[in-house]
Amino acid sequence: MKKSPGLKKILVTGGAGFIGSNLILTLQERHPQAWIVVVDDFRSGHFKNLTGFRGDVVAADVARLDWKAHFGREKFDAIFHEASITDTTEHNQFLQTHDNVEGFRRVLEFARPNKTPIVYASSAATYGIGGEAVNLETQPPKPANIYAFSKVILDNLAREYSKKNPKWRIVGVRYFNVFGPREGHKGAASSMILQLAQLIKEGKRPRVFKHGEQMRDFVYVKDVVEATLLGLSAPSGVYNTGSGAPRSFNDVIAAVQSRLGTWLETEYFDNPYPFYQPHTEADLTHSRKLLKYNPQFTLEKGVADYHASGFLV
Ligand SMILES: NC(=O)c1ccc[n+]([C@@H]2O[C@H](COP(=O)([O-])OP(=O)(O)OC[C@H]3O[C@@H](n4cnc5c(N)ncnc54)[C@H](O)[C@@H]3O)[C@@H](O)[C@H]2O)c1
Repeated sequence: MKKSPGLKKILVTGGAGFIGSNLILTLQERHPQAWIVVVDDFRSGHFKNLTGFRGDVVAADVARLDWKAHFGREKFDAIFHEASITDTTEHNQFLQTHDNVEGFRRVLEFARPNKTPIVYASSAATYGIGGEAVNLETQPPKPANIYAFSKVILDNLAREYSKKNPKWRIVGVRYFNVFGPREGHKGAASSMILQLAQLIKEGKRPRVFKHGEQMRDFVYVKDVVEATLLGLSAPSGVYNTGSGAPRSFNDVIAAVQSRLGTWLETEYFDNPYPFYQPHTEADLTHSRKLLKYNPQFTLEKGVADYHASGFLV
């Protein structure tokens, strides 16, 4: 495990959310002397995710906050930008684009005078539906919804700011299908691992689209946190952050049932979506080489750790 550079003052947007809170609790453990400031407007996050947090919380919308007025000349050693509308069924184009893109632009502008290193959350959704099964960072984006589109614009902005400021570190970590503790508040937007575990726990049969063979790159949140921290030492750019080992929905059901000690028969139902990606897979060549990312959790190991944390059901 690589140690992040000495950090005394850290800003995390979206810190009350799933990934943000896991990141914060890890930062707090590894940098006990650091002062951590969260900016979150709680539109999807939850204060309970921050149980045990010893830092500050600014309850504000990153896309509307007057950063200069609020923080003045306060300097941070690092900024992790996780805040975003994460509900992909939110189809309001203005809202998704405004809040996600303007939020990032304000963070960039706030960080610009000091060239504070920024690691921000990109998304595998930028690869789109019907594209390549194996995703490389060099592939052109094909956003299929407004959420994915907004993330493409984040990547474009990051590239442009980096081009103009070659010495400033701006790193995008392109998350795939993340699962793990502190995602319960996401409801229908939470991982299939949690949703299936909840069904099974209620004694209901697991339900997936026919015939459960579609593959997804499920990545455990501890690997994602590690990749995000590594972003502070990597060259500017975007890095795939998956497991690199896609697994089927049937595999997820088997992994969850084996942990919960159940064996309910799976119910398969027709997929209503005419366009449904049969396979997603992060190519990790670039991430392994430059981000030094080396995921540690298989699906089974991640589900076991999740279950042991007490958050799975
Ligand atoms: N979970 C995944 O599988 C996944 C995959 C790809 C990308 N991502 C990205 O990772 C990041 C974190 O996602 P998550 O899964 O933790 O979701 P989440 O919904 O749990 O966390 C997002 C947090 O951001 C906050 N937020 C949203 N818009 C805000 C705004 N304008 N101002 C202030 N706070 C705001 C929410 O209240 C929430 O606490 C997001 O940028 C998301 O797009 C997640």
